[in-house]
Amino acid sequence: MTNSGPKFKILKCLKIIISSLFITVLLLFTVASIRTFSLDVNVGLQLAQWEKTSNISLVVDEHQRDELLRNFKEAIRIPTVSFTETDINTTALLEFDKLLRKAFSTVFSSILVRHELVANYSHLFWVQGSQPDLVPYMLLAHIDVVPASESDGWEAPPFSAEELDGFIYGRGTIDDKSPVMGILQALEYLLKKGYAPRRGFYIGLGHDEEVSGYKGAMNIVSVLKQRGVQLSFVLDEGLAILDGVISGLEGPAALIGISEKGSATVKLSVSMVPGHSSMPPRESSIGILAAAVKRLEDNPMPRLFGHGPERGTFEHLAHKFKLPMKFIMSNLWLFSSLLGRVLERKPDTNAFVRTTTAVTMFNAGVKVNVIPSLAEAYVNLRIHSSQTLQEVLDLVQSIVGDQRVKMELVSGFDPLPISSNDEKSFGFQIIKKTVLDNFPTVTVAPGICIGNTDSRHFRDLTSDIYRFAPVWFKPGDAQRFHGINERISKKNYEELVVFYFSLIQNCDIEKLPEPHSSVHEL
Ligand SMILES: *[C@@H]1O[C@H](CO)[C@@H](O)[C@H](O)[C@H]1NC(C)=O
Ligand SMILES: *[C@@H]1O[C@H](CO)[C@@H](O)[C@H](O)[C@H]1NC(C)=O
Ligand SMILES: *[C@@H]1O[C@H](CO)[C@@H](O)[C@H](O)[C@H]1NC(C)=O
Ligand SMILES: [Zn+2]
Repeated sequence: MTNSGPKFKILKCLKIIISSLFITVLLLFTVASIRTFSLDVNVGLQLAQWEKTSNISLVVDEHQRDELLRNFKEAIRIPTVSFTETDINTTALLEFDKLLRKAFSTVFSSILVRHELVANYSHLFWVQGSQPDLVPYMLLAHIDVVPASESDGWEAPPFSAEELDGFIYGRGTIDDKSPVMGILQALEYLLKKGYAPRRGFYIGLGHDEEVSGYKGAMNIVSVLKQRGVQLSFVLDEGLAILDGVISGLEGPAALIGISEKGSATVKLSVSMVPGHSSMPPRESSIGILAAAVKRLEDNPMPRLFGHGPERGTFEHLAHKFKLPMKFIMSNLWLFSSLLGRVLERKPDTNAFVRTTTAVTMFNAGVKVNVIPSLAEAYVNLRIHSSQTLQEVLDLVQSIVGDQRVKMELVSGFDPLPISSNDEKSFGFQIIKKTVLDNFPTVTVAPGICIGNTDSRHFRDLTSDIYRFAPVWFKPGDAQRFHGINERISKKNYEELVVFYFSLIQNCDIEKLPEPHSSVHEL
């Protein structure tokens, strides 16, 4: 029996639609599965065939261990605090200068090293290479720290460098005196062992990073610019080795920062004629501004997860997750919007999903019975890699949507350009190799810094800026950073010295080995 009525035609159409949908889903699933497992195969292929340049090894002996820890502790005890842009402890900075000269006397006396002070308190070192045709690189770190007070609840006083359970406590133990001292300690040992680099390099130690680096880093940059210096890459602080911090990830991950979010501080203000509170206008400056601020909080910036370098982070780490996360993360081309919705639920992961909006100051009113003439609020936005400062300002204006609210940009800059991180990227591969040489169980992936560093001032000297130090972060450690109980284990500090010791030698390679045939992209 055949049925050719209209009801049958609809059914037939539905059938076709359903089966083609099914085929599409099946196809997507197949491609997704292939990606899920092919990313697996790619990992760990790259380390073969490097020219051996790390000819000098460092096995830290008892005497060196005492020495390097003593130097580090002395550095922590000097309170090189930056309070504000105009209030920095210059007495402490001068003391720090003395410490460097005393602790690293070989660095300061070597004929291979040229040292100079920049902006009175920042340090610039040039270590001459034997092959001037090799493009130099630069290591950065900063001497200053944010304030700390024992009364905030530190387990050991913040400038004591006291030891508890194998950890050295103190402001600056992570941010950023471990790289400051670690880099110079490594160079001191290299020079003592008779090392002379092939590739020349710079070391820059800024003294005001915590208040934007306008004096230290910016003057170092202008000195180098005047000399026509171009850099192969820059390595600064930023990301770390995360151990048990990313839920679901098997094993530790070293994230190398390849960009930084941009930033904007916007001042919103409403002014009105002042008046007596017995005859109030229908709307006050406070009410108008509060409503504008509320609109900004109710309307977050668009979800952009998957459009910036955070996508590469997840794809590199995918093979270290269990199914189904592995499946989802290997296929962000399909799932980025879904994952973005999950990540935006927590403040720390929301930072990777969008430009964040934080209302940080609100000032209005002087007297209980006076209608205030002026209300002001400050909003701090951290700009996602795929937006520009201007786009964000336009969005803020349209969300506020009220002519009476005046908007003014206090300070701001675009997100930093994305540094290369493929198989041909010299800096990225050198850092990656050095991490794997020293920490073979770690997975290396590109990452994005949600805070800012001195290295952002170096944009004109190189296109490749990386932000990483091999500091181990366990759950809860992120809060120590600019918070209380900042600490580093003695073992980890020693690992830092060894890391920079091998990094400097790894940079002597003339060029990277040819990349293996790539099965990356499907
Ligand atoms: C390291 O040693 C190898 C072999 O002994 C030598 O060919 C190479 O030039 C050395 N590299 C450096 C940077 O001294
Ligand atoms: C500044 O540093 C000096 C010397 O290191 C120290 O004695 C002094 O207490 C510090 N001042 C402040 C305000 O922290
Ligand atoms: C360095 O110190 C001198 C003399 O105290 C001062 O005039 C100058 O402004 C300082 N430079 C910077 C960049 O702070
Ligand atoms: Zn820092």
